Amino acid sequence: MKALVYHGPGKKAWEDAPKPELLDDTDATVRVDAVTICGTDLHILKGDVPAVTDGRILGHEAVGTVEAVGGGVRTLAVGDRVLVSCITSCGSCRFCREGRYGQCLGGGGWILGHTIDGTQAEYVRVPFADNSTHRVPAGAADEDILMLADILPTGYEVGVLNGAVQPGDVVAVVGAGPIGLAAIMGARLFSPSHIVAIDLAASRLDAAKQFGADIVVDNATEDADAVIAELTGGLGADVTIEAVGVPATFEQAVRLVRPGGHVANIGVHGTPATLHLEDIWSRDITITTGLVDTRTTPTLLRLVMSHQLDAGRLATHHFLLDQFEEAYDVFSCAGDTGALKVVLTRT
Ligand SMILES: NC(=O)c1ccc[n+]([C@@H]2O[C@H](COP(=O)([O-])OP(=O)(O)OC[C@H]3O[C@@H](n4cnc5c(N)ncnc54)[C@H](O)[C@@H]3O)[C@@H](O)[C@H]2O)c1
Ligand SMILES: [Zn+2]
Ligand SMILES: [Zn+2]
Repeated sequence: MKALVYHGPGKKAWEDAPKPELLDDTDATVRVDAVTICGTDLHILKGDVPAVTDGRILGHEAVGTVEAVGGGVRTLAVGDRVLVSCITSCGSCRFCREGRYGQCLGGGGWILGHTIDGTQAEYVRVPFADNSTHRVPAGAADEDILMLADILPTGYEVGVLNGAVQPGDVVAVVGAGPIGLAAIMGARLFSPSHIVAIDLAASRLDAAKQFGADIVVDNATEDADAVIAELTGGLGADVTIEAVGVPATFEQAVRLVRPGGHVANIGVHGTPATLHLEDIWSRDITITTGLVDTRTTPTLLRLVMSHQLDAGRLATHHFLLDQFEEAYDVFSCAGDTGALKVVLTRT
């Protein structure tokens, strides 16, 4: 089969790779029908995630069709359409029992496209298949469901729920890439009074407006601190959500929050950021970090199926699987191309 293989920082190729086979009796193999690229894949290609080694097939998001199941798989059958979640869950370890699947101790967590081969391929092996996939409801479009593999649960769990967004809140989202936009969509479910989106790219700020931000700030030419201060009588935002993954934006997210507020970091960071405790030690701030658990995927699936969340609008560019390298070029120049999520399909 063909797959997108990582060969060290800056290097990748769509090339021949062995077709995956069942290794454990709880595995399924899935034919990939639709797949996408994540900002985290770009971090990997920058060398920010050293656990990803030469020869690894990237990707942790897919919708596909079950090709084969091991003898221990109970709920899936060959031919089923499934969402392959970015997080794999053993289902029985301490953290899985708490719904904290991202921290799985039993061989799951974020492993696809990280420590085992991932979804940017014609076929993928999914360990603990019963717990790590979701059946696609009849009538749902692959493209809508694909957005639930990572970005919607990430924005919702690590941004909105960790940030404890409440009705009436002023929510500042730093970074309006797909994850920031997913956080904006999720925050709207709680009726905040204002959502302020902060980014550098005009295309991303336009998207943020369409996804529900009522105020947008160009972080290069405008003063976000002044905008938030003006909006909140000098207090700061109730919740700030960091969705970039660089030190400057984490420090900004901490600076923009009000006393007693929440800073929810979503970004994957490859270098140290400074925590200015000399400024914040007395401000009763809660700072959260997290890897997505995907425990809210069933909830989000219902919201997508009932049209409360318009997931498919995140998909801006479409390619065939053998156009993967072109899709990476478009996704990595998103400021110019206007790409949010690129969707690659087998036909
Ligand atoms: N915690 C998790 O479980 C998890 C899961 C998925 C993704 N992530 C991470 O979330 C982050 C966002 O992902 P994404 O797919 O939206 O990435 P992305 O690269 O598409 O978007 C990042 C956005 O930040 C903007 N940006 C860059 N520098 C900025 C600055 N100084 N000020 C304001 N905006 C700036 C960019 O213009 C871009 O729109 C990444 O770090 C990604 O790795 C985390
Ligand atoms: Zn991801
Ligand atoms: Zn587990």
